[in-house]
Amino acid sequence: MKILIKNIKELVQVEDEPKLKISGAEMKNLNCLHNAWLAIEDDKIAGFGKMDDWEGISDWTNLTIIDASDKIVMPSYCDSHTHIVYAGSREGEFVDRINGLTYEQIFERGGGILNSAKKLSVATEDELVESALIRLNEIMWQGTGAVEIKSGYGLSTEAELKMLRVIKKLKTLSPLTIKATFLGAHAIPKEYQESRRKYIDLLINEMMPAIEKEQLADYCDVFCEQNYFTKEETIEILTAGKKHGMTPKIHAEQLSNFGGVLAGVEVEAISVDHLEFVGDAEIKALQNSKTMATILPGAAFFLGLPLPPARKMIDAGLPIAVASDFNPGSSPSGNMNLMLSLCCVQYKMTPEEAINAATINSAYAMDLSKTHGSIAVGKQANIFITKEIPSYAFIPYSFGSNLVEKVIIAGKIVNG
Ligand code: NIG
Ligand code: FE
Repeated sequence: MKILIKNIKELVQVEDEPKLKISGAEMKNLNCLHNAWLAIEDDKIAGFGKMDDWEGISDWTNLTIIDASDKIVMPSYCDSHTHIVYAGSREGEFVDRINGLTYEQIFERGGGILNSAKKLSVATEDELVESALIRLNEIMWQGTGAVEIKSGYGLSTEAELKMLRVIKKLKTLSPLTIKATFLGAHAIPKEYQESRRKYIDLLINEMMPAIEKEQLADYCDVFCEQNYFTKEETIEILTAGKKHGMTPKIHAEQLSNFGGVLAGVEVEAISVDHLEFVGDAEIKALQNSKTMATILPGAAFFLGLPLPPARKMIDAGLPIAVASDFNPGSSPSGNMNLMLSLCCVQYKMTPEEAINAATINSAYAMDLSKTHGSIAVGKQANIFITKEIPSYAFIPYSFGSNLVEKVIIAGKIVNG
């Protein structure tokens, strides 16, 4: 299939020399072409340029032409942190928090992640696939083209494998690019509270070999936090995960400064995510690493947490990625347009910084920046076309709106 999009008002995030990530002051730059064309052949971007320089593509037959006058074309968002496979919902806890309970207090009385684990244990694989597909479809129409999905509401070998098999099935059913993460170390299940060592042994000696055997996960993640997993346990679990072919990721410094970032740098995690309680030592450690600092503004907003020092991290030369953390407890939204608005309004990131964070840098956080996250020749053709809007800055500006009009994933126009 060949597609030509012409008269594009702004073609955003074009790269002649693709980079794997964009750091520090460079994040303020966003390369755009005005009055542009974009050509797609099969699943790849075949070319782009200014309409003024258009010489036509003479040998193209059966060409689908899209007129994007007054519209913006963006590379699809890469959402590098979600928990999109889950059963039921947790609006009861949302109301409990409005009435004064904290996220930690809800967990201590058996709610939170343990509540979702209870619900997931009685859901079938088919039910989980069905509800996750609805969510994947929703985020696709909000501009997301690639997504990482975690397990972590299983917390037993059987249920963790069930979640990861669901994710594997989703890879075949959804047009989105999907990466899978094993998050058995999301919480200590109730029955192991007095014998946490036994649960860690189970993760390492039983779950990991089974996951490797079925090739179910690209990454291994740990919730490094008070009442969840210590820094030392995090390092042990992620080191074991590496031996089973899984690259480390970490839920780090979300509720307290607990050592997650330092653990992440030590085990060479691809990303450390959340970062509300990051301090100078963590920023320094990240400066000498390949680990992507990832903020999750949906969770900080929804739980009313202090904000990660995104500005300070960028000013220290770090790259920043942004992801949705779509999950039923701390961020029941996978809307990356809304995440851009939060980046700009709350974190004082410019629209350019926010878009870099949600495209190329979040692609890096899921090992996809060679093929996704920008408009470059040879990259996978994952893009969206907006409704008629004045500029790309209008996307974070008009918070709460969905301005996506047309979605193309892997070179195919998705019908809505
Ligand atoms: O990323 N912090 C830990 N995990 C999730 C929340 C999970 C839940 O509450 O269900 C997060 O915020
Ligand atoms: Fe998370």
